[in-house]
Amino acid sequence: MTASDTRPATATAATSRHFPSGFLWGAATAAYQIEGAAAEDGRTPSIWDTFSRTPGKVFEGQTGDVAADHYHRFRDDVRLISDLGLSAYRFSVSWSRVQPTGRGPAVQRGLDFYRALVDELLEHGIQPAVTLYHWDLPQELEDAGGWPQRDTAERFGDYARIVGEALGDRVERWITLNEPWCSAFLGYGSGVHAPGRTDPVAALRAAHHLNLAHGRAAAALRDTLPARAQLAATLNLHQIRPLTGSPADLDAVRRIDAVGNRVFTGPLIKGAYPQDLLRDTDRLTDWSFVREGDLAAIHRHPLDFLGINYYAPTVVSAATDSDPDNARNDGHGASEHSPWPAAEDVAFHQADGPRTAMGWSVDATGLSDLLLRCTRDFPGLPLLITENGAAYEDMPGPDGSVHDPERIAYLHSHLDAVLKAVDNGADVRGYFLWSLMDNFEWAYGYSKRFGAVYIDYDTQARIPKSSAHWYTRVARTGELPAPEAGA
Ligand code: FCB
Repeated sequence: MTASDTRPATATAATSRHFPSGFLWGAATAAYQIEGAAAEDGRTPSIWDTFSRTPGKVFEGQTGDVAADHYHRFRDDVRLISDLGLSAYRFSVSWSRVQPTGRGPAVQRGLDFYRALVDELLEHGIQPAVTLYHWDLPQELEDAGGWPQRDTAERFGDYARIVGEALGDRVERWITLNEPWCSAFLGYGSGVHAPGRTDPVAALRAAHHLNLAHGRAAAALRDTLPARAQLAATLNLHQIRPLTGSPADLDAVRRIDAVGNRVFTGPLIKGAYPQDLLRDTDRLTDWSFVREGDLAAIHRHPLDFLGINYYAPTVVSAATDSDPDNARNDGHGASEHSPWPAAEDVAFHQADGPRTAMGWSVDATGLSDLLLRCTRDFPGLPLLITENGAAYEDMPGPDGSVHDPERIAYLHSHLDAVLKAVDNGADVRGYFLWSLMDNFEWAYGYSKRFGAVYIDYDTQARIPKSSAHWYTRVARTGELPAPEAGA
């Protein structure tokens, strides 16, 4: 046996640095975070317009009214994506721009914007990936009860049909929902996201109706789109680690996995809610809002790929008396209310080591572990990384350029983690960096910069950061350079 025979399989990634051929290289954005033009061409407020105007909810009362003004500058932005050498671009459609009340007929001017965006992308050889829902529920639907109400799922099916009919001939990749965990549990549980409600039962109801909304949208899209279209949902799957190997800590992992991950992967991929989730939450609800036929409807049209958003791992333990505020360290924003229903006896911990400007730990092993877990749990399901990236305190230097070596190091280590997972059998089809450009980072407003491209919000100038140039090289060659050559 030679020395190399004894190396763990993961070590091969260090020598073979090439991504599979056909690997998609993209960047991602979301409507409310970049578009602006909040009251133009018939758009009406979404829950984020309302939430951002509610005192104390968003950093310095900032809103998405103007954001990165992408609505008016999309042609320049597509040129930018093209100059970056990317083969794909993930964006979301603003529901209240195309269907202002969340029901009834579409507004053509709203749809025209997305038609023009898609045309522009295709002319530049960039493949569009559309997300139908990236958190901006029309306010009228929230006023009628929002995601805890079943009818919202029905409305989403109608909306999906409208967008499918408008763009279906030109868009191949469709993502129904972005991170429904955040919509349900941050929106209705901890209240750090719009609409800012704090009711654990409403959060669980929302989770089910989001699953049902996926099912309704998948049916409408399958009905409308050509057979080659690919349907997916994007989840922020939590890669959960126990603080110690004790049985109590392992049970904390199981609980958070149930209400953080399997609450979605169960119905979407396996066709059932996990029994342990129903048991863990039975003192809150009997889940009678799940009606006969719902699970079949959610599961009827299988996912063609699973979208995965990964930023950092989650560390948990059984709570002790010295962990009074169980969710304070979960990385999802400060609130007196936990986003984790029925998990009062779980404590969250921050791993040691480097952090981003969000306070999230930098740990790429979480990404390879997560990809390999999905490979094991969902055999045959292709994976697409629909978001990964980091916020840092970027600032233009005296010469006007923006150097962000920490972001390059973050991207490098995470792309290396993707390669390791691929070498170990994960079927990863592409990677979308979050984000194309700096934008409205939800409750943090414009104070956190995730972009590969810097936005000067006074002038709306776009300045590609060093990481953008680095990423361009990776995307053009399909090859991960040695760390010292990149940073
Ligand atoms: C994800 C969201 C995305 C962005 C990143 C940082 O949870 O999908 O819009 O805010 O986090």
